[in-house]
Amino acid sequence: MSIQKRAVLFMSLYLSMAPWCMTPVQSQEMKQAGKPGLFSLGANRQVSIGSITADNFWLLDDASRYQEMYTREFNIVTPENQLKFRHIQPQRDVFTFAAADRHVRFAEQHDIAVHGHTLIWHRSLPEWLLESPLPRSDMIAIMNHHIDTVMGHYKGRIKIWDVVNEPITGKGKLRHTVWHDRIGEEYIELALRRARQADPSAKLLINDYNVATINRKSTKLYNLTKQLLERGVPLDGIGFQMHLSVHDGLDFESFSENLQRFSDLGLALFITELDVAIHTPVTTAKLQRQASLYRDIFLRLLSQKTVKSIQMWGFTDKYSWIDSHFPGHCCGLIYDKNWGKKLSYTAISEALVSEPQYFPQTVTLPAGSFDDAHGVDTDGAIVFNVDNGDWIQFNNVDLKNGFAKLRIRYGNGQLQPGNWRAEVRLDSPSGVEIAKIPIVPTGGWDVFRDKTATITGGSGRHTVYVVFKGDRGAGHFDWVRFEE
Ligand code: XIL
Repeated sequence: MSIQKRAVLFMSLYLSMAPWCMTPVQSQEMKQAGKPGLFSLGANRQVSIGSITADNFWLLDDASRYQEMYTREFNIVTPENQLKFRHIQPQRDVFTFAAADRHVRFAEQHDIAVHGHTLIWHRSLPEWLLESPLPRSDMIAIMNHHIDTVMGHYKGRIKIWDVVNEPITGKGKLRHTVWHDRIGEEYIELALRRARQADPSAKLLINDYNVATINRKSTKLYNLTKQLLERGVPLDGIGFQMHLSVHDGLDFESFSENLQRFSDLGLALFITELDVAIHTPVTTAKLQRQASLYRDIFLRLLSQKTVKSIQMWGFTDKYSWIDSHFPGHCCGLIYDKNWGKKLSYTAISEALVSEPQYFPQTVTLPAGSFDDAHGVDTDGAIVFNVDNGDWIQFNNVDLKNGFAKLRIRYGNGQLQPGNWRAEVRLDSPSGVEIAKIPIVPTGGWDVFRDKTATITGGSGRHTVYVVFKGDRGAGHFDWVRFEE
């Protein structure tokens, strides 16, 4: 070995030794002794805060600083690349775990959870898998063997896995990938079932980008997820990558509504790859806008109890994929290139310690919530005949959580003027009435009107019923929203 190589090896061993020698308890105490890191600010909100860990981070020029920051700030991490297929199985049946092991061991030494990324993806695949067109049975065998070996290797240690990554296109179709095209669309189900067998205690996710708000892609993911769950396929959560930009921002209402619809399926939610890129040149105004986006994203996420972790795709702009992958963009993270805390860092620290926020919640009405619903039209609205006494049911509504209004959007053509109202009742369709909404004809099916009712009385958690009173008629109800 050359002197130079030995020096690098020695330095890296030295740099990584000190923290490795500590017990989790010691390192936890050390974290608490200094200023609290982000994860401890988030502790009483029951959300883990994390980042990727860079490839061979123990060899970076500033490895000790990197490790110090990472262990101080985070309690969950995702190895950026070194768990990907190409790195783990570079030759058929040859598994190389050394680098990934190092990420996992380091995290374990510091009491930090590891999020496994990723098992089945169309990118970061080895040449051997791509060069010869293997038949379906071979592809299934390769997929199973990879899942068994990798999850088996980290059994009980990596507790969350992105089993399938990026399976859907922007047009809302299943992506044509080597897995999809050679196995068929059931590759997703096969991978998830195999993963459950490989480590029954691991949380299994589908992870994708551009699925944070309601759009064609997230709706396809939603429908796919729903079908998988209905068929009993083991799927525990969704990973929302969230690679964003200051320029594009985020539609926050759509974001909350989208998170809610996935939560309503009984899934846990994971933010897996958050970054907010800036289109160069960087200006103070853009940094401020970035901070405000980070703050608002965190506030929304913290108000959603099903969100289990919020991870960023890095923490310092010095080590980020943005510069190399998106020319003309940079600086999407919370520390700058010189390790200075950015406004975005302050913004998320403030969000983490702020009082829980309440955001108006729009409930897109599911067909089954009507006692006689007879259809859902193309954009998801309910079309139904309303009879006197028909009701919509909302489970587990927290009246204490600050909402005081209920807004309903509807259109109708056939109601008699003056005859109609919606009564808001607690716990049964004939329970205590807490609000009343008069419903007047809107002049047609496509003519919508929003009506708001103030809720008086009622506290704590209840099943809330919206009961329709009046003559028989037909209505088109788009949504009901609880507002502050
Ligand atoms: C990126 C890494 O950050 C880069 O270093 C690598 O060159 C390409 O992959 N979605 C994902 C991640 O699921 O695995 C990608 O990571 C970023 C987009």
